[in-house]
Amino acid sequence: MQFTAAKTLESSINAPAKTPAPAIMFELAMGYWLSRCLYAVAEIGVADHIADAPVSAADLTRSCGVDENALRRVMKALSSRGIFEATEAGFAHSSLSLLLRSDHPQSIRAFARMIGMPAMWNSFGHIEHVVRTGERGSLKIDPEGIFHFFQHNPAQGALFNDAMEAKSRAAIHAVLGAYDFSYSSSVADVGGGKGHLVKAILEVTPDVRGFLFDQAHVVSSVPASDRLQVVGGDFFTGGIPHSDLYLLMEVIHDWDDEQARTILKNIRAAARPGARLLIIETLMPESSEAHVANALDIVMLVITGGRERTRNEHAALVESAGFPFKNVLPTQSSYSILEAVAV
Ligand SMILES: C[S@@+](CC[C@H](N)C(=O)[O-])C[C@H]1O[C@@H](n2cnc3c(N)ncnc32)[C@H](O)[C@@H]1O
Repeated sequence: MQFTAAKTLESSINAPAKTPAPAIMFELAMGYWLSRCLYAVAEIGVADHIADAPVSAADLTRSCGVDENALRRVMKALSSRGIFEATEAGFAHSSLSLLLRSDHPQSIRAFARMIGMPAMWNSFGHIEHVVRTGERGSLKIDPEGIFHFFQHNPAQGALFNDAMEAKSRAAIHAVLGAYDFSYSSSVADVGGGKGHLVKAILEVTPDVRGFLFDQAHVVSSVPASDRLQVVGGDFFTGGIPHSDLYLLMEVIHDWDDEQARTILKNIRAAARPGARLLIIETLMPESSEAHVANALDIVMLVITGGRERTRNEHAALVESAGFPFKNVLPTQSSYSILEAVAV
């Protein structure tokens, strides 16, 4: 058997060139330390206690109400990866750690808290079972699935919704830059969470009306307006509003092909001929290059039972639901926009 060196092994752990393969594997095997430390500092809100100047570990400990030895070591480890900066005067912000501040316009704090919260981490604890059986880990947390869990565990459900808004912030700007929404008279965001995407579209298109469609308990606190109608419902059973344009942002990747087709067919049933459908997702590359889609795909495998799809897989899926595929528009983010038109 011949073993060939993997490409850029060292880059996977930020190690110097020529690091021996066993040393790289040793560190990769411990890789979850980074995600867990990120989760802990996001949960505790450490970044909010550092402003423009460095803060000593002792002061940070006092303001966060934590253990000094543990905090110092976690902050040092994170700083070694560019998250915070360890200086002689204490810990300062780096461009990455600034994104953990609650008040940063592109704050990712809620996402870091959500991805490490008990429902997620405990589901990932079943990864061996997932691989052996193909059954998603979240079924061990709630046999009726993760969205059922969120409905009945409002604190983690609310954090999930906040995280969706947080991860969308940079993407929404990119989506608005890549697609002209002003040609539609109405836009329906299906599975739109608290409405961050449709609200952003309405802000830049004064003549467009919007619909937000999501589970009733998710949208019940979202205020409607003269231009935004809020509809609670289940996209597996219908009730989707009539609109010129439909948006599905990171909805299709939550489901297997059969379930995704049901959602698409229900949208098709509500859509008039000529209505457009935009699927906003991170596309799985055809090659095996390192890509954020791989991380998302494993999250879907373990948590929702869905998957990331290639451009061709998405195209085949929408076509099978009565939406001939038109084209894919790249955005200035990891998301692409797949456009299909109802015939
Ligand atoms: C991954 S989130 C995406 C949210 C938003 N589109 C975004 O990208 O930020 C999936 C959304 O689908 C909604 N959802 C899940 N099951 C649903 C159902 N049966 N009917 C309607 N919406 C559902 C969830 O409440 C959640 O808001």
